[in-house]
Amino acid sequence: MIIVKKAASLTQILSDQRTLTPELGFVPTMGALHQGHLELIKTSRQECGFTTSSIFVNPTQFNDPKDFEKYPVTLENDVYLLEKAGCDCLFLPSVTEVYPGGMAHLEHYPLGYLESIFEGKYRPGHFQGVCQVVYRLLKMVNPTRLFIGQKDYQQCMVIKRLTELTSTDVRIRICATVREASGLAMSSRNTRLSNENRLKAAEIYKTLQFIKENIKPGSLTGLTDTSTNQLNDAGFKPDYVALADAQNLQPVIDWNGTQKLVALVAAFLGEVRLIDNMVLDDLNR
Ligand code: PAJ
Repeated sequence: MIIVKKAASLTQILSDQRTLTPELGFVPTMGALHQGHLELIKTSRQECGFTTSSIFVNPTQFNDPKDFEKYPVTLENDVYLLEKAGCDCLFLPSVTEVYPGGMAHLEHYPLGYLESIFEGKYRPGHFQGVCQVVYRLLKMVNPTRLFIGQKDYQQCMVIKRLTELTSTDVRIRICATVREASGLAMSSRNTRLSNENRLKAAEIYKTLQFIKENIKPGSLTGLTDTSTNQLNDAGFKPDYVALADAQNLQPVIDWNGTQKLVALVAAFLGEVRLIDNMVLDDLNR
C-alpha cells in the first residue's frame, strides 16, 4: 500500500492510475478503523481497479470540542488493517494540507432542511464540516466511485446533495451497516464505551427492531414515545427517536402504510453519543 501525505503526490499517483483502470474507488474515513470501514474497502476493491482510503480527523465537523479531543486515534493498527484488506493507497493529510487557507471563512453549502433536522439539529455546523472536507478530498482524489456507509444515513444524503450542488461527477455507493453480534452498529466511538455500556448499547438496535415490528399506519407518535421511554429506562439520554421518508429524510409522523420509511435513533450512553438507523423495507414479509 502506498502511503501519501501530500495532495500533490496523491494527485500524481491517481492520474497515473486513471490511465490503467476505469474505476477508481475512494473510501474517506476518520480512522480508528473497524469492520464497517473494511467492508467499504472490500466493496471498493470488488468494483474498482484501484482503491484509495483517507484517514483525516476533520476538525471542522466536530461541533463538540470534547468529542474531537477524545476521538480515538489508532494509526498503526489502521495501516495494518488497510494493508491486510488490500487497500492500494492511503492518504494521510495534515490539517494544513486539507485547509491551506486556514479554517476560518470556509464555504457554506445550502443544504436546506437536511441541516435543520435530526443530526443537523443536534450537531449544528456538523454537516457543513462534512461537506467542506469531503469536497476537498473529492477534488484531490477525483474518484469515479465513492463508498460510504448507511450507518450515517443523513450523511449519505448530505454527501449526495453536496455532489449535486458542486456538480461533482462521482458514483455514490452506499454500503450496509456492519454490526457486532449483539446488533450494535460498529463505530469508532464504541471504543470509548465501558464493557458494561458496550453490552447495553445493543439496546439501540433492539429499539429499531421494536419499531419495525410494531409500526402500523396512522400516527407514529405513540410508537416513538414508547421507544424513547424504553431507551430512557435503559439508561440512555436520547436526542431523537424518529421515522422519516427513506428517500428524502422528511420526518413522518402520520404514516400511510406504503411510504418507505427509515427509523433513526441518536442517544447518549454516558458521554458517548451513538447513532443508528434501520430502513423499514420488508414490512410485509
Ligand atoms: P467515519 O466515521 O470514520 O466513517 C467513514 C465511513 O465509514 C463513513 O462512510 C461511514 O458511514 C462508514 N461507516 C462507519 N461505521 C460503519 C458501519 N458500522 N458499517 C458500515 N459503514 C460504516 O463518516 C466519517 O468518518 C466522516 O464524516 C467522513 C465522511 C470521513 C468525513 O470526514
